[in-house]
Amino acid sequence: MPTTLKYHGHATFELSDGETTVLIDPWFTGNPVATVTADNVTADTILITHAHNDHVGDGPAIAERTGAKLITVNELANYLTAKGLANVEGGNHGGTIAFTGGTAKFTQAWHSSSFSDESGSVAPGVPSGFIVRYGGVTIYFAGDTALFGDMALIGEEGIDIAVLPIGDKFTMGPADAVRAAKFVGAKTVVPSHFNTFPAIAQDGAAFATAIEEKTSSRAVVLKPGESFAISE
Ligand code: NI
Ligand code: MN
Repeated sequence: MPTTLKYHGHATFELSDGETTVLIDPWFTGNPVATVTADNVTADTILITHAHNDHVGDGPAIAERTGAKLITVNELANYLTAKGLANVEGGNHGGTIAFTGGTAKFTQAWHSSSFSDESGSVAPGVPSGFIVRYGGVTIYFAGDTALFGDMALIGEEGIDIAVLPIGDKFTMGPADAVRAAKFVGAKTVVPSHFNTFPAIAQDGAAFATAIEEKTSSRAVVLKPGESFAISE
């Protein structure tokens, strides 16, 4: 059974090895480009990079329904636990947490992290990315971030697939994502966090061309609902 990476639009991804499923930043309800609803996904593990509502999304509800373990930055983990969610584990930059079928290492991300709830806006912790080892493959989910030079250190970990935001405005844009791809040196680059709404409209095909021309990586541009095999 090959391991697959599925894109649900925006920053929402699904990893599956045929036995377990990992959701990353699972935002379905209110996501204008999602092709499935939160009720129709399964998960054993949920990884959330930071507290912004477009990343926490349906994560807590899916965790509650499925019993999936939700892994996120410590302060957001504590916030969700205080709200009554049972199976939450917090970590922080540089730390690795094991889950059924793999591991997730927290990386830094240059961004912000706040959450709008019934009391207004709270800011539980810092933003992160993840280096996920799963199904024999190493995937770097950069999360919402600007370009930073220490992506070169992340590249030293041997990244097979780098999922990089390209939307601009709230994260790095395509030009900086090409520079990020050079630092990371992944075999494959997958763009994310674009074309969800007009403010982050980008040309995925033009980004793919820039990656092929300016880096040693290949680009795989997924439409929401599409997936591809990332291992044999
Ligand atoms: Ni964000
Ligand atoms: Mn975001």
